[in-house]
Amino acid sequence: MIEARGLTKRYGKTLAVNDLSFTVQPGRVTGFLGPNGAGKSTTMRMMLGLDNPTSGVALIDGKHYRDLHHPLRKIGALLDAKWVHPNRSAYAHLRWMAVSNKISVKRVDEVLEMVGLTAVAKKRAGGFSLGMSQRLGIAGALLGDPEILLFDEPVNGLDPEGILWIRKFMHRLADEGRTVLVSSHLLSEMSLTAQELVVIGRGKLIAQSSTEDFIHAATENTVKVRSPQISKLRDALMRTGATMRDEADALVVSGMDSAQVGELAAANQVVLHELSPQRGSLEEAFMQLTGDSVEYNTAISDTADQLVDVNR
Ligand SMILES: Nc1ncnc2c1ncn2[C@@H]1O[C@H](COP(=O)(O)OP(=O)(O)OP(=O)(O)O)[C@@H](O)[C@H]1O
Ligand SMILES: [Mg+2]
Repeated sequence: MIEARGLTKRYGKTLAVNDLSFTVQPGRVTGFLGPNGAGKSTTMRMMLGLDNPTSGVALIDGKHYRDLHHPLRKIGALLDAKWVHPNRSAYAHLRWMAVSNKISVKRVDEVLEMVGLTAVAKKRAGGFSLGMSQRLGIAGALLGDPEILLFDEPVNGLDPEGILWIRKFMHRLADEGRTVLVSSHLLSEMSLTAQELVVIGRGKLIAQSSTEDFIHAATENTVKVRSPQISKLRDALMRTGATMRDEADALVVSGMDSAQVGELAAANQVVLHELSPQRGSLEEAFMQLTGDSVEYNTAISDTADQLVDVNR
C-alpha cells in the first residue's frame, strides 16, 4: 500500500503539491490523474525518496522509502523511459541494475521476456523506439519483483498498439495482487486502464474514488433516441416534463432511463430506430469537477486533441 499524508512540496513560489492525502491499494490499477503541471511527477518523486517533502509524508507499506531494506524488491518505478545509457544494450542496462541491487542476474532474462524484448536484448538501447524504451523501463521496474509499482505517464507518445499492451500489462500486474499507480493526463485512456482514481489539480486532491463512482457522481446518464417521428416523440417527452437536447439526427433525453423513454414511445405509437443509454465519460466528469478553472480547461482541450490522435 502507498499512503500520502498531508504531502506538500514547495519550489520557491510554486506550491507543486499541496496537502495531498490519499492511499493506493493492492490488486487494482489506480490512475493518478491531473492536467500538466498538477504535481503528479513531484508526488511520485517524493514517494521514491528522490525529492523531500516540504511537509507531510509519503509511506510505502508504512515506511519511508529510505528505510526500506531492499527498495527495488518492494517498489519498482518507471519515471523516465529515456534514462538509459544510449550505448548500453537492454541486457547490459538491466544486468547492471540487478548486480548493483543484489538481484539474481537470471531475473534479467525473465523480465526481458515479460516485456517482449528478448529478441533485441543485445541491441543498443539508444536505438530503441519510444515503445521499446518504455518496455525497457517497465522491465527495470519489475527487476526486483516488487509488490508496488509506479509508472509516470507510461503511455505518453505511444501508438495504439503500445497503449493497449501497457494497459493489459498493468491489469495483469494488479491481478497478481500488486499495487499499481499509473499517472496520466490522458482521460479516456485512464478510464479504460484504471479501476480506481486519484484526481489532482494544482497540487490539490480533487477526488479519490473508483473510476465508475467518479464518473457517476459528476455526470448525468442520458438516453439517445432516433425516430422517423421525432417531433411526435419530442411533444410526448415535453408533456412529461423531461429535458432533452437535439443532436444531429437524434434526441438526447435527460432524467429518464431507456425503459421509460421506450414505454412512452410505445404509448404514443412512435417508431424508434435507436434507444441507447449513454454513460457519462471521464472527460465530462473531469470537466464538471474542475470546470471553474481556466487552467484545467486549457489542459483538457490539449488532452482532447491528443485523444483524437490516439484514437485514430
Ligand atoms: N524541480 C523543480 N523546480 C521548480 N519547480 C518545479 C520542479 N519540479 C516541478 N516543478 C513545478 O511543480 C509543478 C508540478 O510539476 P509536476 O512535474 O509534478 O507536474 P505533473 O503533474 O507531473 O505534470 P505533467 O503532466 O506535465 O508531467 C509545476 O508547476 C512545475 O513547474
Ligand atoms: Mg509529470
